[in-house]
This record gives sequence, C-alpha cells and structure tokens, in this order.
Amino acid sequence: MKKFYRYCPLLSLLVFVSSAFAQNTAPDINEELWYKNSIIYSLEVGTFKDSDGNGTGDFEGLTGQLDYLKSLGIDAIWLAPFHTSPKLDDGYDVANYYDVDPQYGSPGDFAEFMYQASKHGIRVIMDLVLNHTSDQHPWFQQARADKNSRYRNWYVWSKERPKDWNKGMAFPGVQKETWTYDKKAGEYYFHRFYDFQPDLNFENPDVRNEAQRILGFWMNQGVSGFRLDAVPFIIDLPKTSAEKPEHMFELISEFRRFVQWRKGDALLLGEANVLPDENKEYFGQNGDRLHTMFNFYANQYLFYVMASGDLEPFRKALVDTKKIPGTAQWAYFLRNHDEIDLGRLTEEQRNKVYQAFGPEKNMQLYDRGIRRRLAPMLNNDRKRMELAYSLVFSLPGTPVIRYGDELGMGDDLRLKERIAVRTPMQWTNQKNAGFTSADKPFRPIIDKEPFSYKQINVATERQDPNSLLNWTAKLIRIRKECPEIGLGNWQLVEVGSPEVLAIRYNYQGKSVMMVHNFSKDPKQIRIPAQAEGDKELFSLTRNNKLTSANGGFTVDLEGYGYNWFRVGSAIR
Ligand code: NOJ
Repeated sequence: MKKFYRYCPLLSLLVFVSSAFAQNTAPDINEELWYKNSIIYSLEVGTFKDSDGNGTGDFEGLTGQLDYLKSLGIDAIWLAPFHTSPKLDDGYDVANYYDVDPQYGSPGDFAEFMYQASKHGIRVIMDLVLNHTSDQHPWFQQARADKNSRYRNWYVWSKERPKDWNKGMAFPGVQKETWTYDKKAGEYYFHRFYDFQPDLNFENPDVRNEAQRILGFWMNQGVSGFRLDAVPFIIDLPKTSAEKPEHMFELISEFRRFVQWRKGDALLLGEANVLPDENKEYFGQNGDRLHTMFNFYANQYLFYVMASGDLEPFRKALVDTKKIPGTAQWAYFLRNHDEIDLGRLTEEQRNKVYQAFGPEKNMQLYDRGIRRRLAPMLNNDRKRMELAYSLVFSLPGTPVIRYGDELGMGDDLRLKERIAVRTPMQWTNQKNAGFTSADKPFRPIIDKEPFSYKQINVATERQDPNSLLNWTAKLIRIRKECPEIGLGNWQLVEVGSPEVLAIRYNYQGKSVMMVHNFSKDPKQIRIPAQAEGDKELFSLTRNNKLTSANGGFTVDLEGYGYNWFRVGSAIR
C-alpha cells in the first residue's frame, strides 16, 4: 500500500486530508488568534504605581508590578493614553503621538517596560486616539493660525455656523456644542467631544497617512495592537449631519490592511457603541475590519438584568449580537474607565438601573450613565460581585477587567465626571496605599470605609485565601482551562427558570456549560442532556459532580448563585 501512495501522491494527499477531518485534527486557524482566549487588564500608567516618589504613577512603577499581573494570570495589558497631553480629558487629548509623557517616564522606560512585559509573556495593547487631537497639538495650533498651513485641512472647518452646531454631543449635559467658533482661525471647527478636542479630518489623505505612521511607529515599539478610541467618530462625516452622519467604513479596512501587513497578529480592538445591525460594517463582512469590539450593546442589558432580575432583554442582546465573522470576537467587560453607558435602554429600564446602582444625581453622568465602580454599585455584596464577574468571564468573547476591580476597589464621587473611577491602585495598607512615597499623591486615594485602602489592597488580600483577589485569580485560571469559550460555538440552553442564564460551548468534541442565577432566591433548574457524552457534569467552580437521570441534570443554585461545568469529564 505504501508503495502505491508513493506513486500516487494526489491520492495520498486526499487520504491524509480526509482522515485529518475524520479525527477532527484539521488545523484550526482560530487557534492562532491569541485575542480569542486572552484576559485583558486595563490600566492607566499614572494611577498604577509611582517609582520615583513624585506622586504620579510611571512606567518604571508599572514594570515593577509585572510579576503581580503575571501571577494574577492576565495575558494582555490595555494601556490608557500615555502621550504628552494637557490632560484635560485625562490623556484622551493628545499633543504628541510619538512620545511618552515625561510624567510617566522616558521613551527608554517605555522600551524597558515593553521588554519586561514580553519576558513575562504579557502583551501590550495601547489606546490610540485618532478621532481628535488636543487643541494644544502643534497641528491644530498651525491650522488655526494660518489658512495656508498644510495642517489647516487636517481639521474640519466651516465658515458659517452649521445648523446642527449644538447636536451630536458625546458628553451631553457637560458639552454644549459640536461646532465652536475659533477666533484665531475665524471659522468654526468640529469637535465630537470637548471643545479642546478638535476632530481630525479623515477625508484628507495626509491625515490617513499620518494615522498609518502612528500605528506603524508603535508596532515597531512592540505593541500587539490598539484599542482604537471612538471608531464611529473617526470614520464619520460631520458635515453630512452632526447627529446622524454618514460613515467611511472603508477607512477601517485600510487600518486593518496596514496593521496586518506590518504585523500579522496585531489586534484592532474597537470602541464602537453601535446597534447590532451595524456590527457587520465594523467587523467587515469577511472579518476584514476590526478584530474585536466591546459589546456595549449587551453590556447595558447586563446591568439591567443585574438590577432587575429580568433576563429576557439580555438573552436577546446576546442572540442579536451572535452572528459575527469567524475571526472576529467580542470583548466583554463590567466596568471601564468611563461611565456605564445606559443610553440604549428604555427610560423605564434605565431608571431601574439608576434606582439599583446609582440612585443619587451625583452618581449619574451625561444623562445616560453611572460613574461608579462595580463594588460600590453592588453594595460590596460579594455574592453579586462573583455573579457579575463569573458571568462576564463566561460570555462568548474576551474578558476585559479593570485594575483594582480584582480587589473590589471603590470610587470617589468627589472627583469630576469619570475621574471618580480612576483613583490610584491600592497596593498595601501603608501610607498612600503603597502607590507613592510622595506626601501627596496626584489624585486622592480612597480612604473611606468600606473601600478604604486599609482593607482593600493587594498585600492584605493576597494573604487571605477567601479574598476577592484570590477568587479572581482562580476564575482566570478556570477561564483559561476553557478554550471552548473563545473558540467554540455557543447556544443558550433552556433550563426551566426565566431568571437563570445557561450557556453551552462546543469545540472540537468538548463542551463546557455555565449557569447564572439572577434571582436573589435559590432556583432549581433542569439541564437537558444534549449528546451521548452528556452523562456527567463536573463542576469547575465548586466541588460537585452531577450524573444525568431521565435525560438531564437537576442543578440547585443559591440566590445569585452560579456554576461552571465541564461536560463528560473532569479535565479537558
Ligand atoms: C472614549 C474614551 O473612552 C473616553 O474616556 C474619552 O473621553 C473619549 N473617547 C474621547 O477620547
């Protein structure tokens, strides 16, 4: 027989390929896609760890804490903007795309951080704000000062005040207009965000070119990808309408082609809070635009179900956002550095979330959201915090966690707008929470109970086997034992209780299943056995094993209880 194959190479190839399929060992391109099963940790350099005692966190401080991050189990850091900036929007107002703000260290400190992160097996994704610059950026300074400057057309101008000058604000309630008169320029300029953030004009090929320069520059510094800020606004054409503008979707394909050509596995993680029927434009019909987007749509219903126990809208949001290209992926999160945007809920739904999680006016922001951390919103209720995190880690996508949430950190509502959720990381119960040796940290540290750094800090929680920190590290480990979540296909399973979400993943003949109870009352559910191998369920999160009887499994869940199961065997 061997001899026969030797003389008939085509036949031998066919036999090889078909047997590979039969054994399900065909190479799977998805396995190459690192972002599909990574845990992303978001942080700001300035609030993480200060190394030189000037009160502000820096790259050297962050580098020193890579061991902590590695032991927590994360795969990638998402760095908030760290460029030179007047910081009127906490760094989202960039004044130089090609440097590191000296407050955070030197370019050498950044390079050292990148080197050490890679030694720790941790990737770095950086925030990139392309939609606008700071008004202090030399491009804008030249553009406004001189009509004939090559930078004039890098921004969006109008001689007359456009009819919709006070429409389409990203920060309603705080921001009054989107077209503002600039005395120096003698014209109006467009700004989707604050007036000190003039929008760049992406219709101009020079601007598109420069954007590629910036992407290329940072890929050369070793970053694994970008969290692209404000994607729908980078590609919009404000002159078509400030409120419902047309979009240049092809621009996202251009970014994708560029980054992928330079670095095959570079990631574009887009910030785009869009409706389900718009997703295909952002991911691209063939998955040739953004690799990943935050699922802001589902996130709002997630907070709604946590507030109300009414699961149906969340189930629907998951189903409505299910169909995405094979290489694409959602990113799921609970809290980020901004307010929770509840703008897509009905007024009644939003009010329920406000009532439960942000009843005071001071907790709400921009007429649509809540500016609090998770732990205070949930009244520091450990059961509900576990439910929330367990849920996010079990959803079909990449979990993104925010620094300090692994400890259950609180917020400081005395601070302006979204700064409330950006207080310094709590490392120890010593002076300034071990964040800085300076007398005065650049931003106050939380010292009010029950979220004071005296209790909530890495050093204390590390010693306590029951701490949220140790629980989170365990959850990360369990999530990593379930590649089915990032790579497999999924379905919601009917378990006979409207308040329990059950999701099952199948991948290469292996299955996992997670159940979450959004009711405060205990529930008994019935999980149907779906396949021959469904004889036993092995819990990954607690010490139990269930055996199928009468075509299914009976599972008891405590109020706000959850469980993760591997189907058919204790290990993969
Ligand atoms: C979205 C960012 O998440 C937010 O923090 C920022 O203020 C705006 N984009 C403007 O860059």
